[in-house]
Amino acid sequence: METQQGRHNRADAMLRSRTFFQETGVSGFLHRAFIKSMGYDDLDVDRPVIGICNTWSELNNCHGNFPELIKAVRRGVLQAGGLPLEFPTISLGEIFLNPTSMFLRNLAAMDTEEMIRSQPLDGVVLLVNCDKTIPAAIMGALSADLPSIVLSGGPMLNGHFKGQTLGACSDCRRLTAEYQAGTLSAEDYAAVEDGIVRSQGHCMVMGTASTMNCMCEALGISLPGNGATPAVDSRRLRLGVAAGRRIVELARTEVRPSDILSRASFENAITLLCSLGGSTNAVVHLCAIARRMGLALDLELFDSISRRTPMLTSLRPSGDYQMEELFEAGGVSVILRQLLPLLHGDALTVTGRTLGENVADAPEPDGVVTARLDQPFQPEGGLAVLKGNLAPKGAVIKHSAASPALMQHTGRALVFRDYNDLQRRIHAPDLDVGPHDVLVLQNSGPVGGPGMPEIGNLPIPHKLLQQGVRDMVRISDARMSGTAFGTIVLHVSPESAVGGPLALVVDGDLVELDVSGRRLELKVPESELARRRASWTVPKPDFDRGYGQLFLEHVTQADEGCDFDFLHGRTPVKAVEQPKL
Ligand code: FES
Repeated sequence: METQQGRHNRADAMLRSRTFFQETGVSGFLHRAFIKSMGYDDLDVDRPVIGICNTWSELNNCHGNFPELIKAVRRGVLQAGGLPLEFPTISLGEIFLNPTSMFLRNLAAMDTEEMIRSQPLDGVVLLVNCDKTIPAAIMGALSADLPSIVLSGGPMLNGHFKGQTLGACSDCRRLTAEYQAGTLSAEDYAAVEDGIVRSQGHCMVMGTASTMNCMCEALGISLPGNGATPAVDSRRLRLGVAAGRRIVELARTEVRPSDILSRASFENAITLLCSLGGSTNAVVHLCAIARRMGLALDLELFDSISRRTPMLTSLRPSGDYQMEELFEAGGVSVILRQLLPLLHGDALTVTGRTLGENVADAPEPDGVVTARLDQPFQPEGGLAVLKGNLAPKGAVIKHSAASPALMQHTGRALVFRDYNDLQRRIHAPDLDVGPHDVLVLQNSGPVGGPGMPEIGNLPIPHKLLQQGVRDMVRISDARMSGTAFGTIVLHVSPESAVGGPLALVVDGDLVELDVSGRRLELKVPESELARRRASWTVPKPDFDRGYGQLFLEHVTQADEGCDFDFLHGRTPVKAVEQPKL
């Protein structure tokens, strides 16, 4: 019977990195000579070469624990007989990027794909954490299709203020509105600012980063524990060691992302998304990732899964708790185990086991943060997909974080032409606005934004805040942060900047939102809309050169994932043909 060492030797003889380091011509000589300049020898390159794709930067607060986490991954790779080599790709931190990190997601995905493709690697651990780094890494790794594991940096600890738990950044918005309404003092507002972001890690409510990192477990592309283990918990480091060990085995057995991701695993991820009350941004990202597999995920699939999937967590902004409490309650595995009757439990994961096997020993729900499938917090998932003459290709609402009283609402449109117009007028004392009006924002989609910025949660006008109004129906072709809340219709497609019906709305039009009927209608006769369409002109593009121009020419609409049209699909890496010099 073959020993483990014998099996490894046989597997290692087939490694892609051998075509770099053991080629007999001058190319192999150059590769060996130059890697020796860094202190490595022949034994080092005679083993699986594992890339650690590092998205750290000093301008990305969410990735602060990466230096320690990378040491842990390295240890795991070495333990399993691999050679860890770290390489950088661009770092997308949500807070400091302008106009929006989403504008750069596809650039990061291209960076990841091409660096994986062009370097002498046999497998990759993808270190991610802040929102866009997660889909970007998966999109790039899937298109390159080299064995890969996603490892997130983990969520922040809870913030605190006068005995309250604070969540970044649901409370950033909620308490800013209270400060603007005059119900929170300047001193308390400053104390909130000091105490809300208390540790390294990504935002700790069920925002986009939490959602995507949890969904990696359901997709099967990360190890169990990836979603909820806090950034500063030593178990996060031990998860890094385990990921390092595991990627070496995946490289030896050539288990690629395309062996893990499938229609079944996407349906598993959507089911988890709905049961978590996860971020609307995940809809866009999952559509983009799936198209790298040649899969088109219809928005109707999200809606039908949401209707049949109960909410099994009470996590902000839809519920009461945060990632730290989810971790203490047993993490994502608790939810996945409850959801098994609704999942494809036989889907393969990077552990080498099925999703069902991964979560078989997960603890029972506590009934506070997590719920049993037969005793859910809400009978349906948190997302709904709307269609109608205002959104022929769909729009999305997170109704779990919206006001029940506004789920069926008809109101007078108050239209803002773009973000600058919104900034200029929204808080004007003489703004003609009432609490039943519908705030509409145009030109904020993938092309119009550009980059579909997270400005869909239009602020409530000050004059209404002071009257006690805290929510209104708001509609746009933008996105919103997963940490935001309110009755907010997003991702209207096609967007206004390419001539979608949203571009035709004017002040005073009646707009009908019917969430249970899944409808979004502009109550204007078709003959009048045709007249407005005939006089509509294409807005001046924001860029006439460089990456911006590439973006405007190739970005797809929200219902297709906002990827570049030329990036759909995969070109799997092969053993590299070295030029015979
Ligand atoms: Fe990175 Fe919130 S700023 S996840």
